Formats: sequence, C-alpha cells, structure tokens
Amino acid sequence: MQPPIIVTRRWPAVVERILAERFDTTLNAGDIPLTPTQLKAAFLNFDAILPTVSDKLPASVFPDEDVRTKLIANFGVGFSHIDLEASRQRGIVVTNTPGVLTDCTADIAMSLLLSVARRTGEGERQLRGGEWAGWCPTHMIGTRLSGKTLGIIGMGRIGKAAAKRAHFGFDMKIIFFNRSQVDDDQVRAMEASQLPTIEDVLTQSDFVSLHCPGGAENRHLIDAKRIGEMKRGGFLINTARGDVVDQDALIDALENRTIAGAGLDVFAEEPFVPERLMRMENVVLLPHLGSATEETRVAMGMKAVENLTAFFEGRPAPDKVA
Ligand code: 8YV
Repeated sequence: MQPPIIVTRRWPAVVERILAERFDTTLNAGDIPLTPTQLKAAFLNFDAILPTVSDKLPASVFPDEDVRTKLIANFGVGFSHIDLEASRQRGIVVTNTPGVLTDCTADIAMSLLLSVARRTGEGERQLRGGEWAGWCPTHMIGTRLSGKTLGIIGMGRIGKAAAKRAHFGFDMKIIFFNRSQVDDDQVRAMEASQLPTIEDVLTQSDFVSLHCPGGAENRHLIDAKRIGEMKRGGFLINTARGDVVDQDALIDALENRTIAGAGLDVFAEEPFVPERLMRMENVVLLPHLGSATEETRVAMGMKAVENLTAFFEGRPAPDKVA
C-alpha cells in the first residue's frame, strides 16, 4: 500500500503528477491554505505532510498523541515555520530543499540591490503614471554599484552566490559576517573578508544583504541599534526571512533617512506589508519571489520527492534537518 501523504498547497503540475504516482497523495486543488485545525488533523491522517513557508507549524498544531505523521517534507530551504522540537518529541523527521534555489534567490537579491540603487521601481511607476517629463541631467539620480562595498550577513550557499554576482558582475568589494569561519576557494576567489562582528560589516558597507536563516535565534538580529550602525547612505537588502529584521525599526530608519533605502522580498507577517512601507519611494518591495522560477520550483518539488522516496524506502532522507 502506498503511504498517504498531503500536499498543503498547489505545487508545479509535473511534481504533483510524480507524487500521485508514487504515493497515496491528497493534493490541494483549490490552493487555499489549510487552517491550524486542518493541519492538526493532517498529523493524525497522513504519513507525510508536505508544507511550505505559508503553513505555520508551531508546537500548538502538533497533536499530543496518536500522531500518524512520520515525515514533514518541507517545500523550501527555510524551515523556521516548523517547530523542530515538537517534531523531535514525536519522532517526526523534517527535511528541506537546499541547493536548488541558491542561484535564483541570489538573483532576486541582486535584482533588489540594482533596483533600489538605480531607482528602477520608482522610475517605472513615474513612466506608467504618465508623469515622465523627459530626459534631463538631474532626473532620478541613483547610486552606482561598481566599486562599492557589499556586506553579507550569513555566508552560506545563497550568501556566496550573491557575493559572487556582486563581485564578478559589478566589481563590488565583499565583506561578510558568518558565525563560523568561512575560508574556501569561492571566498578566496572573490577576495572577500570575513569580519569579526555584524557591527563591523554594517559600519563599513554601502549595501548590506541578509542571507542567514530566520527563526528564534536570528529574530531581530538587525534591530534598531544595528540599523543605526549602517552608513547614512546605506541600503539594506533582505531575501532571508522577515523576522531577521526589526521591521518597525527599519521603517523608522527609512522614514528618518538614517539609511538610504531597502529592498525587501520577505516581511515580518507575510503577506501583510505595512502601509508605511508601501508609501515609500526609496524601498523596493517584492512578494517573496526568491525561488519563483519554473526551474527552481520544479527542482524544489523534486527534492521533496527524493526525500519522501528515500524515507519510505527505509533509506536516510538526504536533506534531513531534524
Ligand atoms: C520559498 C524560501 O519559495 O525556500 C525558502 O526558504 O524562502 C522561498 O524561496 C518558500 O519559502 C517555500 O517554503
């Protein structure tokens, strides 16, 4: 008998077909997010749950007894929406989808960096609004990337991919903070310097890009005080998780022009985006598009398929995080 599994949202059709062939698969044709009550029930009725970042799985949705679920195969590399301790207590294995979204997420970070520096969102809004009065030497002047310093917080796979693009594509100098020592060929090739503290990176960077995990450990890692350390003309790029930044403090800093701008793909309470941010021209806002390419979303789904297949064949799941 095939193990019963539930996919909480629509996935790329090709992956849904493969899942349906290999497992007794319940799909979510309407793509309506499950309620906490439905998620709780899923733990009693399915051998595996396949959630995404839009499914909050705090300890309170894990039932206390009779849990049928043995595997949570997350669609996404970030898993801060899943309470790993609650999973561990119930013997549930958790997997993610690393590697396959590195390049596309780094591309979105670069896209935000370019867009906010060169004011392209603002420019397009002006043009489409019929307000462009024609070329002139002082029109919509932005900031040059070449020769500037990019500070990376979290030099993992995605941080390195963003740094590589910035250094080799845009002649930027790379400095970074990472909790553990990073000294490999990639970092050496781009002559990136690891600095001892986050403050060192913030004070010396023209642009700061966040590439660390979300969750309790990094909640408000970039708080009011640290935002205050950034250069006055500095820009903050966040493609990691909304909770890494104290969003209210960031908005205050942007309004007070203590930093020059921000490019955000993630927010504190997605999909809610504060009106104060929406009103600002010096901010580029994207609806969590980091991994949103055909190639990557299919690859993410296939990673989950690999994890499920290995797990139910009694082999170790390749991307086990808990
Ligand atoms: C995903 C992401 O689309 O994988 C991640 O961690 O942030 C996104 O690119 C989404 O989170 C899927 O769970």
